[in-house]
Amino acid sequence: MSVVSIAQERRNMDQDQLKRAAAKAAIDDVVPGELVGVGSGSTVNFFIDELGAIRDRIAGAVSSSERSSDRLRSNGIEVLDLNTVVAAGRRVPVYVDGADEINPRLQMIKGGGGALTREKIVAAASEKFVCIVDASKQVEVLGRFPLPVEVVPMACELVAMRLRALGGTPVQRTGFVTDNGNLILDVAGLSITDPVATESVINQWPGVVTVGLFAQSAADLVLVASASGVLRIERRQ
Ligand code: 5RP
Repeated sequence: MSVVSIAQERRNMDQDQLKRAAAKAAIDDVVPGELVGVGSGSTVNFFIDELGAIRDRIAGAVSSSERSSDRLRSNGIEVLDLNTVVAAGRRVPVYVDGADEINPRLQMIKGGGGALTREKIVAAASEKFVCIVDASKQVEVLGRFPLPVEVVPMACELVAMRLRALGGTPVQRTGFVTDNGNLILDVAGLSITDPVATESVINQWPGVVTVGLFAQSAADLVLVASASGVLRIERRQ
């Protein structure tokens, strides 16, 4: 292994330790006896494993991806269908998920793992969004991470053309189909100074299923792990 790849592996290990620390801290926000909304991604995988240790103290989970559902079940946690939960008038007090970027207003770019649509749905069905990140995800302005946009396949070129007109450079995610059977465009080069406006503009285009901006509904709480510990930042109303 080269010196460069050893250094990269050490950085990844360090980042994994931080992700695990943020995930562990989120257990304090889980409401005993209630359902938990569960996001997707490598940070959430650590959270699911922590949740496994307290599975007897929760009523089950509502999941945002097939991958998270599989991991929840392998941790002995029942995964409930969202429609059944909503129809029964059951509460989902907390939704825990990671982010690709988060700004000081707790607005996020999500969808690096391609689960953005179900993530937005489960977040909307939950009372409180707890975002778990390592400090590398904090930014002043969203957009350095390419913005994921889930699109219906036949609208891919049309949406890409409109994203170019907004100043972005969309690239179709290679060999990737979402859990909903759609495609993802990853849009580089956007400096998103008004995330609420950008979210609502892109949302309205025919063929767009979901834009990976979580700005109109930001996180309520972020747990940021760094070398000095896990910082809790509540959203200012
Ligand atoms: C998946 C997501 C993830 O939350 C986001 O990509 C962060 O992932 P990770 O925890 O692996 O860094 O939005 O669609």
